Amino acid sequence: MSLFNDQKLKLGVFCFNCSGGMTMSEASSLRIEWPEMVKIAKSADRIGFEAIVPVARWRGYGGSTNHNGVNYEPFAWAAGLAAETERATIFSTCHLPIWHPIAAAKMATTIDHISAGRFGMNMVMGWFAEEMKMFGHEQREHDLRYEYGTEWVEIVKQVWSEEEGFDHHGRFFDLTDVISQPQPLSRPRPVLINAGSSPAGIDFATREVDFNLCSMTTLEAAAELVKEVRRKAWDEYRRKVGVLTHVTILCRDTEREADEEFDRLMELGDWEGADNWIEILGIESESFGEMIREFRSRFISGASHVIKGNPEQVTAELEQISATGIDGVLFGFLDYAREVDEFGEKVMPLLVQAGLRH
Ligand SMILES: Cc1cc2nc3c(=O)[nH]c(=O)nc-3n(C[C@H](O)[C@H](O)[C@H](O)COP(=O)(O)O)c2cc1C
Repeated sequence: MSLFNDQKLKLGVFCFNCSGGMTMSEASSLRIEWPEMVKIAKSADRIGFEAIVPVARWRGYGGSTNHNGVNYEPFAWAAGLAAETERATIFSTCHLPIWHPIAAAKMATTIDHISAGRFGMNMVMGWFAEEMKMFGHEQREHDLRYEYGTEWVEIVKQVWSEEEGFDHHGRFFDLTDVISQPQPLSRPRPVLINAGSSPAGIDFATREVDFNLCSMTTLEAAAELVKEVRRKAWDEYRRKVGVLTHVTILCRDTEREADEEFDRLMELGDWEGADNWIEILGIESESFGEMIREFRSRFISGASHVIKGNPEQVTAELEQISATGIDGVLFGFLDYAREVDEFGEKVMPLLVQAGLRH
């Protein structure tokens, strides 16, 4: 399970199953076509990235790009890419309210076999109410989503580990004589991650998964989060839990080219789409005033930290991120199909020199 290897900073590629990838901008040249998916995944696998991670999205956010509106379903996507790769852990991102845990556990096991033990699952509770409505689901109250998630993942873990049939009589599921063969090849089970940073989300992560996946604001906040996740996991559950983050990366030969690329990303930004996202998230512009502009540009550039610069500057920033205690970084690119290879060529050797990789 390569996310547990001894590389100081694990690396991955994120979000390329949905149009726009991480960025809400017409500057993205990602095409949601299968040959492009295979090319990106094979490049990431070849240069030694540990993780290939999709997002779970069923509809876009409107605006000029209808961000993420063209998308591949993550389990089927992972199965296809599992067959095309050799080393990286291939993730599905799973909307827990949509998939029955027995079905999800079985799909996961199947992909774990296709990949010879390289499957991982990112569990998300479903925050986008319009999306949940497509499936006829009313949105549960925030913390109740994690209570549901807890029962859901306990069932999945049991499906993966029980040799005999078992019953489950809980608050959300009433199951009789559940049996599933074969079991996953990954031992003790496929790697689990979860993206949520509320107290309920962090509690879920520290209890149930291997890595919390967080968006990054500042280095200081990231260091605090890492400390808190580790402390809580150990003090309350006697577990070790890692932290991953995601960043948009604009690596160009010179600082100036990278700056120009960032300007292009923002100029071609889908501001209407960003407004829609903010509205969906329920942020009232009146109450946030100036901060809202920052939120909008943040969503356009990938809803997390942006690393821009020449290969040396990119390496230096990754060193700073690693120094916060973060275990791994998943990247979003404007042109994944070209830039993953370039990252391998120009940045990976510098990461070795910096002691982040070997
Ligand atoms: C890095 C990251 C990736 C996420 N990926 C998805 C996703 O693919 N699909 C989805 O519906 N929600 C996704 N989410 C949303 C989270 O699952 C969660 O609903 C949201 O962060 C709010 O949770 P919280 O209130 O516990 O922080 C993601 C969140 C983060 C931070």
